Formats: sequence, structure tokens, C-alpha cells
Amino acid sequence: MKSQSLLLYILALTQFLTITFAAKRDHKQCFDFPDPLNPTRFDTPDCPTVENDETYHVEVERGIQNFFQVDLNCYYTAAVCKKIRNAFNDAGKEISKVLKLKEKIYVNATYESFSYSEKTLLGSAYPARSLSLISDDKITRLYPQALAKQFSLKKHPEYSKYDINARFNADFSWWFKADNKKIKPYQYDFFVVILHELIHGLGFISSWDTYLETNTYQTITGLTSNYYFYENNEFGGFIENIFDRYLKVIENKKKIPLSYYTAQLNKSVPPMTLFYTRLEFTNKVKSSPQWKYAKSVLKAATSNNILFTPAKRTSWKQDIYLEASLKPFVSGSSICHVSQSKYRKTSDFVMTYQQFPGETEKYLIERGGNYKSPIGPRIISVLESIGYATAANPNPIKPKY
Ligand SMILES: *[C@@H]1O[C@H](CO)[C@@H](O)[C@H](O)[C@H]1NC(C)=O
Ligand SMILES: *[C@@H]1O[C@H](CO)[C@@H](O)[C@H](O)[C@H]1NC(C)=O
Ligand SMILES: [Zn+2]
Repeated sequence: MKSQSLLLYILALTQFLTITFAAKRDHKQCFDFPDPLNPTRFDTPDCPTVENDETYHVEVERGIQNFFQVDLNCYYTAAVCKKIRNAFNDAGKEISKVLKLKEKIYVNATYESFSYSEKTLLGSAYPARSLSLISDDKITRLYPQALAKQFSLKKHPEYSKYDINARFNADFSWWFKADNKKIKPYQYDFFVVILHELIHGLGFISSWDTYLETNTYQTITGLTSNYYFYENNEFGGFIENIFDRYLKVIENKKKIPLSYYTAQLNKSVPPMTLFYTRLEFTNKVKSSPQWKYAKSVLKAATSNNILFTPAKRTSWKQDIYLEASLKPFVSGSSICHVSQSKYRKTSDFVMTYQQFPGETEKYLIERGGNYKSPIGPRIISVLESIGYATAANPNPIKPKY
């Protein structure tokens, strides 16, 4: 999430050096994202199938109030770290009230000073691992581990220790409700930032990004979903996040699912094509007739033409506008949030890309119309769509392994 006061766009996110090849062809894919600030740098470790071992399965007690277990790396005073820990506890409880979780979610959180290029960011979170599972429409997609665990699959790719990696910027002046003081005009409510970041970690995140732009300083020409290679450098395919299943592009007044664009990009390179360098792969895709689809998505993502259509039976029926107003496209901000201009002053404020100083959770809830939770109805329907159970939607759509 970005701070509002300093608006320097970070372009460095798009760079990653080599393609990582790891998974064997007979193994299911896992994608690890060690740095929440740079999801384009991912590893695909060997991820053998695990049969759900009853002894390992943690049966969660009924009535548990907080499903989030946070390991906090905090190198500040004990008093500061305690406030951070309490805010995490409050955010974990809030999410645990709204979602019907079955399994605990483990968070690796770090509270630290951010580097110069990251200094406008309040915080960042990303699924630590995503697993490839088969959605109800038979398309293979990436499911964040926090979500995959809730499905109680009999077999699944191996889980990693943490579900979510999160980092919070210690250089801002933070406001904590527990201090019982009036917020200063330059302070940010830490609780709101944690809530926002944890929701990303739960899967409120698109895979559409600038993966194929090799040079940080070149103009972005197109967006693609994520992609993978097998261990022997053979191309596997483009692969979306489960969030992306519900995205639509508005083109010539028609709504077209983003999955259609992924399917087209899949045709730009025959499966199992061997590549020795990343540049070779990039050139091949960009010179294919299918690159026009990557261009169309970029155009939509920078002209307010990306929608999230909630799954049937979820609590919100209408299309939700995603953040697609930023031009140039901003990795980590565009598409991965709800539209700021439309929803900042509604009950769905928590998932807009910027947070403004001097605004507390209480103020934002009141301005949004006093919804019962800081997690608004549109945000809940996104979480229900990707597969989280709630009281209103106890049987969400599940993937298969
Ligand atoms: C936890 O997060 C920190 C900071 O992002 C990272 O350096 C560390 O490797 C992470 N630990 C694990 C086990 O992933
Ligand atoms: C793209 O290709 C991969 C590999 O064949 C496949 O798993 C995936 O379902 C395809 N995605 C779409 C949207 O067609
Ligand atoms: Zn965000």
C-alpha cells in the first residue's frame, strides 16, 4: 500500500534477472515469492504431492478468535514492537470474524526501515507460496497457500512454513488506536495498513504484470499473467491467479474475461519449447501475433476498463471496478486494488491502493456509511469468489488437485 504524500512510482519492480527453472515435469508447480515487494522475482521449487496426514492436520479449536499466527521481526523498542504486535492481533481477529477459516494462517512479518526506492510504501504483503490447482472451469490457476489450506484437500502440493510474507515501513509516523490520542495530520493508522496487506496475502492479488519487460527504463508495451518453465528449460505455460478468474476487460463495450487473454497468450509459444535465455523467450512472445492481447490488457489497465465480476451466490452482485487509472501502469498498485476514485469514500476503502494520512479506521468506516466491519461488502465478495467461506456463503467454489 502506498502513502499518499509522496507519489514516486517505483519502476524497479519489473526487473528480475534470470528465469528460474526448477519443477520437474511430473511434479506440480509451486511458486514461492520470497520478497513481497518484488513478486516478479519468484522461485518454482520442487513441490511433491503430500497426502493429508491426519496426525499433521491441525484441528483448530471451535470459537477461536484469531486464526493468524504472526512471527514478527521487529528491531525497535519493546514498546513499539508491542504496539505492532497488538495491531496484528486486532487485524487477525477482524479477518477471523468475517471469514470462516478452518486452518491457521502463518505470517512472516517484518517491521523495518525501507530502502530509498521503497520509501513511499507503507507496507507490502504477498502470498509466501502459491500452488497450482484446477479451478471449476478446468483451467489451472495459482491459489495462495493461505486459501489452499482452507479447502482441506486430501492431496496437495507441499506447503511451506509461512503462508504470507509481509513487510511494514518503520520510517512513517504511525498512529495506534490503543494510544488513545488524536491522530496527527501526517500520521497513518497502522491497523488499516495491516488489514490491507493481510488481505493481499490472502489472495486479493492479480498475476497480471510487466513480467516480459526486461529493461526497467523501457516503456511498458504489454501485460501478461504469470508463467512457468520446467526444470529442463521447457516452456510450461502462462498461469493466472484465482483472483484473475473473475477479471474482465471492457473492450468496445464488451466484457471479455482475462482468462481468454491468457489462453491466447498460451498460443504464442508452443508448450515444451526450449529456451536458453530469458531474452529469447521474451522476444518470441513479443514477436508473436498474440502479443496484441498483452497490449489490449495494458490499455484496459490504464484506462479504467478492468472489472471484477463476483462469482455467483456471493454477497455482492454487481461488477467491481479495479484500480486501472494509473498511467503508466504501476506494478503492485494497478489491478491489485479496487478503484480509488470510486470506492475511497465507501465501505470498501480498505483495498484502495493509497492510504491518506490523518484518517483513522473509525473515520473511514463512518465516511463509508458505518458498515459493520472495516472489510467492506465488495471486498468480502472478492474473497468469497476466490474460495473463502463466510457466514453468508458457507460453500464457496473449490478447486481440485
Ligand atoms: C521472512 O521475511 C524476511 C523479510 O522479508 C525475509 O528476509 C525472510 O527470508 C523471511 N523468512 C522466511 C522463512 O521466509
Ligand atoms: C495456459 O496453458 C497452461 C499449460 O498448458 C494451462 O495449464 C492453463 O490452463 C492455460 N491457461 C488458460 C487460461 O488457458
Ligand atoms: Zn495494496
